[in-house]
Amino acid sequence: MKETPLSISEIYKKGKENLEKKGSPWKSPPDSNINASVRMNRQYMDSLFFEPQFFDPVKPETACSILGIELKTPLFCSPLSQTDFMADDGLVEIARGVHQAGALMMLGIGGSSELQKSIDLGAKVVKMIKPYQKTDLIYKKLREAEERGCVAVGMDIDHFYGRLVGDKVDRDDLFGPQSTEEIRQIISESKLPFIIKGVLSKIDAEKAYQLGASAIMVSNHGPSSIDFTIPSMMALPRISESFGKKLTVLVDTGFKTGNDVLKALAFGAEAVGFASSMLLALMADGAAGVELLIDRITAELQRTMAATGCANTSTVDRSIIHPSPFITGAGFVK
Ligand SMILES: Cc1cc2nc3c(=O)[nH]c(=O)nc-3n(C[C@H](O)[C@H](O)[C@H](O)COP(=O)(O)O)c2cc1C
Repeated sequence: MKETPLSISEIYKKGKENLEKKGSPWKSPPDSNINASVRMNRQYMDSLFFEPQFFDPVKPETACSILGIELKTPLFCSPLSQTDFMADDGLVEIARGVHQAGALMMLGIGGSSELQKSIDLGAKVVKMIKPYQKTDLIYKKLREAEERGCVAVGMDIDHFYGRLVGDKVDRDDLFGPQSTEEIRQIISESKLPFIIKGVLSKIDAEKAYQLGASAIMVSNHGPSSIDFTIPSMMALPRISESFGKKLTVLVDTGFKTGNDVLKALAFGAEAVGFASSMLLALMADGAAGVELLIDRITAELQRTMAATGCANTSTVDRSIIHPSPFITGAGFVK
């Protein structure tokens, strides 16, 4: 008998079970920090409801073009790097699954090997470069990304002040704030579209635009940057309203399902990033698990798009969303 493919929640469950079996249980988000941004993001997302439109059915199209890159679905693997429980080729396997599902792959801190292998298997890869204190290293990584064939580059400016792990900050000796002039120079020297990751305010969005970025990613960096920064879904509508026509607006942090993706599209994002979910899908079934997860998320997105009268991802708007009267989302603009 043919096995029924796993559902989204079953993929997450299997990933966690397989990690347990390997003796390294799932620790993200860690229990030791408050993690308010991520929790409130979830709470806020769950307070948004769709207005269905069942008559006059539409056939939804999820294929889209992001920064000139053709995708089958408005979904990307947010920048990832090696973790302790991942096999050596884990990132490449994620890239394989992402590529097979027609989505966009982003790699974060790391070496040349996974970058080249991911590009060689056909994945469209974005390299997110850290705000290294040693500015030379930034330029080196930029040149490497261009030469190896990345489709875009970027910088996660929310790691200017190091990485938050639980309630500890590390890598603050490695990363540091770059001056605005330096970032202008970095962007102007880039031959590829440049993404500024970690934008949560209109002020930073305006700066990114002025400095010549092509895209911004509204992101809390999961629980790993600054806790109590405004949750990305609350920040998104204000930013996309002002900058959606000037910049490509991407978003991540806390997205789990196709319905989550539709809410972000309705709030003005062009594509939505998943990081920790990709790790769970990898642990569930390698590249096939990643591909299946993206297919499942896309199928749910497509189904709810049909039920809300959305024919394609670029025309989704806020009219399909009703916020719960019990939570007043700070960022909701009707
Ligand atoms: C294992 C791991 C490694 C990550 N490495 C990077 C990185 O190198 N650069 C970066 O910008 N973000 C990195 N991130 C952050 C993710 O890109 C993403 O912003 C964050 O996890 C929120 O998405 P999520 O809620 O779907 O996990 C990493 C996340 C994880 C889980």
